[in-house]
Amino acid sequence: MAKILAIESSCDETSVAIIEDGNLLSNIVSSQIDVHAKYGGVMPEIASRLHCENIGFVIKEALEKANVELKDIDAFAVTRGPGLIGALHVGMQAAKTLAMLYDKPLIPVHHLAGHIYANEFVDEFTFPMLAVVVSGGNTELVLMKDHLEFEIISSTRDDAVGESFDKVARCLGLPYPGGVVIDRLSKEGKHTYDLPIPLKGEDTLDFSYSGLKTSVINLVHKYEQNGEQINVNDMAKSFQDVAIGQILDRVKKTCERYEIKEVILAGGVSANSYLREEMKKLMEKIGIKLVIPPLWCTTDNAAMIAKVGEKLYQRKVFAPLDVSIDPNWEIQDYMKF
Ligand code: KG4
Repeated sequence: MAKILAIESSCDETSVAIIEDGNLLSNIVSSQIDVHAKYGGVMPEIASRLHCENIGFVIKEALEKANVELKDIDAFAVTRGPGLIGALHVGMQAAKTLAMLYDKPLIPVHHLAGHIYANEFVDEFTFPMLAVVVSGGNTELVLMKDHLEFEIISSTRDDAVGESFDKVARCLGLPYPGGVVIDRLSKEGKHTYDLPIPLKGEDTLDFSYSGLKTSVINLVHKYEQNGEQINVNDMAKSFQDVAIGQILDRVKKTCERYEIKEVILAGGVSANSYLREEMKKLMEKIGIKLVIPPLWCTTDNAAMIAKVGEKLYQRKVFAPLDVSIDPNWEIQDYMKF
């Protein structure tokens, strides 16, 4: 029986969770989203300062909710990367301090491994498994032949899918985070705008989003220059169809080329309702098991870090106290720190 306290502070959520042998005892999330929304995106310096302010009471609340004292914790897990430098440092310093003070192991966790393992709150994994990692900073297909074996088989050549949702939303005058708003508005819209299909005609599993984003921006400017009004709902729908269509296409091709028994979705964009619906249809058609994370798991939280923390604890993957964060940590290097 081991109790693990996990800390997540890689972007704009300060979160602390406590897990005991697979049972989540608490998962407290303090989101800064309202503050960053005023600036149209996450302001790294503000994020770090708010993590500093929040980390203490979030730890306290997580302990109270779990009815656990710090002295009862067996290990401290923390997001080491990828993420914002200053934001990551806050969580890491807190975890190091606790590990040193209570003389307990420190477990560095990869943020995207966390998003992938959030799906284990739904069901145990079946391998070989394809993790579709779609977020504000990443667009990757990760092949897993076993637990904690991550092989990136495809990624974006330029922007991440979530980033393109946010930038397109901004250009349409919609608030941050744009993905949620585009998802909602596209339900009222029709696919009327002709946008280019990225990497069309190329036999590739790669992704690309910058050309699509630029096409939307150029079209919006053209309408403005002509004094015409763009239909925001229709543009949201047209963009979303192409952006999500690219993910569906790559997943279909990957399932044809590799032996895959299960597909899981991970990351912020996995909250997209169109992606969730279309992925269900696709997986039913090709007969592969699909696991979709619950919506609370699509945003950053420490529960998912705790899940990976448990796996690493069993394998005794512990870091020395001079370990530091890595904003660009690659998932395959999750044991290198
Ligand atoms: O990157 P991410 O996993 O969060 C952090 O690690 O902080 O998720 C944030 C991204 C943003 O780009 C946001 O616009 C996008 O996920 N997102 C969505 C939806 N909800 C969040 N994109 C499309 N549809 C959604 N419903």
